Amino acid sequence: MKLNVNGRTVEVDAEPDTPLLWAIREQIGLTGTKYGCGVAQCGACTVHVDGVATRSCSMPISAFTETQKIVTIEGLSPDSTHALQKAWLDLDVPQCGYCQSGQIMAAAALLKASPNPTDEEIHREMSNICRCGTYNRIRAAIKQAATARG
Ligand code: FES
Ligand code: FES
Repeated sequence: MKLNVNGRTVEVDAEPDTPLLWAIREQIGLTGTKYGCGVAQCGACTVHVDGVATRSCSMPISAFTETQKIVTIEGLSPDSTHALQKAWLDLDVPQCGYCQSGQIMAAAALLKASPNPTDEEIHREMSNICRCGTYNRIRAAIKQAATARG
């Protein structure tokens, strides 16, 4: 089947019930999106589907059509200069780093929906899990990115 990933059409040769995450990592070779829990709990596998943060471990590829725009961390910005990526670097947000691409994708969807989120909104909307406990820096980076974007 065909998927639209990061602005290009890619052909995926896999069973229809293959999770989107496996297609992204193993068929398409984009390994920035991570596998954590596999049951839509942790958010490590977050990508955007038509701009909405989506946990790709729990969606079969048969649920998608070529017209839906899937964006992974590799496609968030052509040169890694998204305001969130800059704020993440600036504030040294990651510890082990494993959850961070999912965190950034969730944060990018949040900023699209709410350009200047309050602490409460960030707390409510950012349900991704970080085992290293980088939540305070994540919140600070989201606020810095929101300010930078005006
Ligand atoms: S790996 Fe998808 S939510 Fe945890
Ligand atoms: S930085 Fe280690 S799990 Fe989040």
